[in-house]
Amino acid sequence: MARTTIHVCSECGAQSAQWHGQCPGCEAWNTLIEERVSPARASGRKPASNGRRAGERARELPANVVPMPLRDVGAAPVRRMSTGIGELDRVLGGGLVPGSLVLLGGAPGIGKSTLTNMILGNLERAGHRTLYVSGEESAEQVRLRAERLRFAPAASLDDDVARPLDGASVANPALQVPILAETDLDTVLDVLAANPPRACVIDSVQTLGAAELSSAPGSVAQVREVAARIMQLAKARGIAVILVGHVTKEGALAGPRVLEHLVDCVLQFEGERERPYRELRALKNRFGSTNEAGLFEMRQGGLVEVLDASARFVAEATRAPGSVVLAAMEGSRPLLVEVQALVAPSELEQPRRVVSGIDRNRLALVLAILGRHGGVRTGGADVFVNVVGGVRVDEPGCDLAIALAVASASRGVALKSTPRGCFGELGLTGELRWVGHPERRLEEAAKHGLDGVIAPAGSGATACEVQTLRQALAAALPGGPAGGRGGAPVEHGGSPVALVGEAHSQKHARALHTAGGAPGHAAGAAPAKAGSGGSVARLRAV
Ligand code: TYD
Ligand code: MG
Repeated sequence: MARTTIHVCSECGAQSAQWHGQCPGCEAWNTLIEERVSPARASGRKPASNGRRAGERARELPANVVPMPLRDVGAAPVRRMSTGIGELDRVLGGGLVPGSLVLLGGAPGIGKSTLTNMILGNLERAGHRTLYVSGEESAEQVRLRAERLRFAPAASLDDDVARPLDGASVANPALQVPILAETDLDTVLDVLAANPPRACVIDSVQTLGAAELSSAPGSVAQVREVAARIMQLAKARGIAVILVGHVTKEGALAGPRVLEHLVDCVLQFEGERERPYRELRALKNRFGSTNEAGLFEMRQGGLVEVLDASARFVAEATRAPGSVVLAAMEGSRPLLVEVQALVAPSELEQPRRVVSGIDRNRLALVLAILGRHGGVRTGGADVFVNVVGGVRVDEPGCDLAIALAVASASRGVALKSTPRGCFGELGLTGELRWVGHPERRLEEAAKHGLDGVIAPAGSGATACEVQTLRQALAAALPGGPAGGRGGAPVEHGGSPVALVGEAHSQKHARALHTAGGAPGHAAGAAPAKAGSGGSVARLRAV
């Protein structure tokens, strides 16, 4: 019998009939991934019967396959479907695009199934045919969740499709959604092909499996196969598909990022389980901006959009030492969030740096700049930084807020005139750098009663403009900046934070290792330099 799968190395492309822990070609470990032999391409889901026929087809090019200038390509305007959830529509770039694949990632229990239940309920109510494929939970479990959901009145949907259920808002639309509790990929594809819905949710992509592959559902090979075949069908039939994906402990979408290049849109659902706030952000979007983020609150009755987030966060700000309000930008929208820091003497040889809602590398960078240019040394202390409410801030403008919060916590004094707003990026030489949309940040701050926002030069007349970190500390803290010129060097062993991404440091370690250097020393020394470079590159990209 002809072999149906082979194992292909993801590093060098070497093929092998059997699985090996080490690639016979390039000797890399754990890189062999099972694949179907000659997967069907043009002919839909039917696999080509053998290699010879596939070769013949390639030579006889059909007459209608000719490259054409872009101006002649008929680009029909994308007709999007509103999900009925404004925050989500904004993150998607205006709604779901028919035929597109959206990957929704998030930790277990964060609310992915709740969100997708609500989306399909809204679409069903708007008159679209939908399908919910659950590989994870039984149909009964999904029904129990759907029963808990409460929907806004139908009038909030701005879709132009007729709404047969209009006025029947008492009926729970989530209960109208057809469900298929199934884990076999072929069965799911058959159901989709027999009666194509407008929108379909696969919950989750890691639970479906193709029978041809011997690897277990959730493996790289299976996840890739499942997504690729669903995509083929979705594009052919114009079905908008939302693939739910789990996130590993390290925070990456499971199925080692294999899906990210395949899908049109990658959404990440984040938040702390203990807190009600959830943030939805686009990491990739072929049909919109990747800067947008939507804020939700998990309540009894499902997810509710948070439209007055700034007001809430400012009202909740503690006004204690270590607290500062950051005027951040969430994509095109300004958002005021409280950044809190705690600095405590450490018992550990390598003091802790614990972050929530900001990047660990950014904290390491800010602490180094604070020590060198602000006279605030934290080498012997544990430092904790938290963005309140489970919000994640991923922009360079948060540097100053982290610095002021840490300085205030380190000295044990509250900022002058709390709550105090600020924003700005810190340069490696201690200067405060201009960041985008200062006028919108200041406007938002003024709207919520914050004045004298500390900001980089060129931000606007209403701001308290400063040029350097030192000036910012003087403006914010009652005693001004402490100490003389940052004399003591930043302790190298002090921070356990790796300053570079894992891949980067591994590459360094490997390169240095093969060059015969001492790996321990090399790995310790290389990151500090690469870290600042990497971070500068990242800041530009933001
Ligand atoms: P769920 O959508 O099942 O998470 P995921 O699919 O990401 O694993 O939601 C999990 C949590 O949401 C669960 O702990 C209960 C909570 N929840 C509410 O608080 N209110 C609700 O109305 C619903 C449906 C869920
Ligand atoms: Mg779920």
